[in-house]
Amino acid sequence: MNILIIGAGGREHALAWKLSKSLNCENLYVAPGNAGTEKFCKNLPIEANNFEGIKKAIIKHSIGMIIIGPEDPLVNGIHDYLVSDKNTQKLAIIGPKKVAAQLEGSKEFAKEFLKRHNIPTAKYKSFTSATIDLGIKYLELMSPPYVLKADGLAAGKGVLIIKDLDEAKAQLKEMLLNDKFGKASNKVVIEEFLKGIELSCFLLMDGKNYKILPMAKDYKKIGEKDTGLNTGGMGAISPVPFVDKSFKEKIKNLIIDPTIKGLKLDKIVFQGFIFIGLIKVGQDPYVIEYNVRMGDPETEVVFPRIKNDIVELFMATARKNLDKINLEIDNRAVATIMAVSGGYPENYQKGFRINGIGEDSESLFFHAGTKINFNGDVVTSGGRVIAVSSYGKDYNEAIKKSYQEIKKISFEGMNYRKDIGFDL
Ligand code: AMP
Ligand code: GLY
Repeated sequence: MNILIIGAGGREHALAWKLSKSLNCENLYVAPGNAGTEKFCKNLPIEANNFEGIKKAIIKHSIGMIIIGPEDPLVNGIHDYLVSDKNTQKLAIIGPKKVAAQLEGSKEFAKEFLKRHNIPTAKYKSFTSATIDLGIKYLELMSPPYVLKADGLAAGKGVLIIKDLDEAKAQLKEMLLNDKFGKASNKVVIEEFLKGIELSCFLLMDGKNYKILPMAKDYKKIGEKDTGLNTGGMGAISPVPFVDKSFKEKIKNLIIDPTIKGLKLDKIVFQGFIFIGLIKVGQDPYVIEYNVRMGDPETEVVFPRIKNDIVELFMATARKNLDKINLEIDNRAVATIMAVSGGYPENYQKGFRINGIGEDSESLFFHAGTKINFNGDVVTSGGRVIAVSSYGKDYNEAIKKSYQEIKKISFEGMNYRKDIGFDL
């Protein structure tokens, strides 16, 4: 089967790496891809939101399966677009329809879903410019820090956590009245701050059945000891050491089961990945957010642990018979460390040559922001540049190996966190 992956990051490289191992995968295409996928796939110069271009490529290359990496095209309805055309109707699509993608595309939609189905989450209320005065009053009733969330997609930047009440009020005004995050902040969710440790839980759903994939922990802050600005993710590990049997049961009973039941009750058919962002408060799990795709860099630690033939797993997802699949998970731990451009997540320069990407290393080098320049060199082309994933008998060994390998990589301004796993 010919397969197309949409996206350009480390997540997509990791998915491509795993798909390429399947005997059921003939030609593998990535749109637009990066220098890492270029090596063993065919990169197509089509952006993720160019639905017409994607449809044409599907027809031209006789694609049988498409995996949509990022949230944007899903929230914009790529699944609906492809099934509405007779040429692409039969395509196996990994990624939900627009209505289901609202779980990520609208914070208010997600919060209403959580509330309706009694799934533990932070208390909240949402506001628009018409109700801003009520929003200000609501802030006055809450205790700091204040959590303000743009309702729509804001490229991962739409959540503000603010200690000072006046600053929170000012930011609420910026969001609602001055389009701080464009249309995404025409509505703002204000919620209670939860204190705890975060983890990521992943489900693969076929609309009827589901599989729980390995859980992971992501390190989002740029600075050591989780300080500084939020990034897309600076490293990750799987499994999560503090998820023991009893906590896993709580996640299943309090979060996963009611999520599945809620989708059914709301008649939302979900085909693809559900990424549940969780926080452990005391001994209990709460939902911070839903995403409708895999995480990045979580994919770089989760997929190396899945032993199944991934094309079979995804075909079962498209054919609604995931119940026939026995998920096999590697017992080893995997850790990934992300090398990023100097200055990221704020302004940074691109185009620097990358040296020392291990060719014959045991570790896996998943490219994130890279491209091949006119000289044929691999150069930086994004904030997050390359993720180094390694197996180990436990997370300590896996982290150690990734650090050994990442030290061999160099490019101008390269930065990475030296303390992944510090909190475990
Ligand atoms: P989100 O985009 O909803 O995942 O939010 C981004 C990050 O903000 C999360 O990963 C958390 O670290 C933090 N966050 C969001 N909501 C809350 C909350 N209610 N309490 C504490 N931290 C939060
Ligand atoms: N690593 C977090 C995310 O993919 O949203």
